[in-house]
Amino acid sequence: MNVIKKIRNFVKNISNVFSFLLSIYRSGGYSKPLISQINYNNILNGKRILITGGSSGIGFEIAKKFISQGGIVLITGRNKNKLEEASKKINSDRLFYLEWDVSDISIINDNLMKSKDLLGGNIDVLINNAGVLLKQDFFSLSEDVWEKTYSTNSKSVFFLSKELSKFWIKRKIQGKIINISSTSGYCGSIIPYGMTKWDIIGFTEGLGKKLYPYGIIVNGIAPGRTATEMLNRKGNENIYDPMTSAKRYCLPEEVAELAMFLISDAANFIVGQTIVCDGGYIARS
Ligand SMILES: NC(=O)c1ccc[n+]([C@@H]2O[C@H](COP(=O)([O-])OP(=O)(O)OC[C@H]3O[C@@H](n4cnc5c(N)ncnc54)[C@H](OP(=O)(O)O)[C@@H]3O)[C@@H](O)[C@H]2O)c1
Repeated sequence: MNVIKKIRNFVKNISNVFSFLLSIYRSGGYSKPLISQINYNNILNGKRILITGGSSGIGFEIAKKFISQGGIVLITGRNKNKLEEASKKINSDRLFYLEWDVSDISIINDNLMKSKDLLGGNIDVLINNAGVLLKQDFFSLSEDVWEKTYSTNSKSVFFLSKELSKFWIKRKIQGKIINISSTSGYCGSIIPYGMTKWDIIGFTEGLGKKLYPYGIIVNGIAPGRTATEMLNRKGNENIYDPMTSAKRYCLPEEVAELAMFLISDAANFIVGQTIVCDGGYIARS
């Protein structure tokens, strides 16, 4: 029995070493994750936060961070199983989820009411994070891919921000909005993904100026290539990426850390800005 166990362990170790070497071969190098997190001493205590697309990747890590700092968080997504799984992983009685396809703008007001009920009060912070990266090529692009990309990545951000800020202004709530764009929004683009991300940067700047007089603060984040499902990167054992100066992918935890700073009062004089977090991917030399 003991011998069988030893053989099993040996095979397991060998296959772990093999998949580690394979990851180095596939990505062309090795880079260790470096995560440093700040404790904000529960400053989100009592704050109600809506994160679109929080069932995986960046939205999931933002939810985790905000929960760890006392927030009451609602994550959304199209896939109920993914939401359930995310909720199990975070395992907090301050985390709620709602099945919500943000590309359907006709359900925004109903779902804002459902969100308020689930969170037990008015939303204080909106993170417009849901996004899709569909297979797309300039010469063969179909209208369907265009529509799906625009309705999820851009149209939803506009209409959700519009409805929620109207509600906030009426009730004199000084909310905060963070829009998740991308470094693609800072580079020329001939595919809808990159173009929607340009939209978001411009919209963030315009909305930041429009809403600041009402005490509502709007900013954005442009992550670089981040190790999430969107880029088929699960887990972060080897995050080597030759495309950045840092020689590694961004981690969703790092984007969450920036989101935490941006919704803190320490960032109250930053208005309409989209902060790039990309390990030097788009920096010019
Ligand atoms: N990963 C990167 O390299 C990278 C870089 C820059 C910016 N970003 C941006 O960061 C955001 C998050 O991406 P990620 O990397 O974390 O990808 P991800 O792991 O694929 O997460 C995307 C999230 O959005 C949800 N979602 C997609 N379409 C939706 C819809 N119509 N309605 C509601 N939820 C929807 C997904 O859940 P369901 O599938 O269940 O709906 C999931 O929770 C996106 O806006 C993305 O463009 C990512």
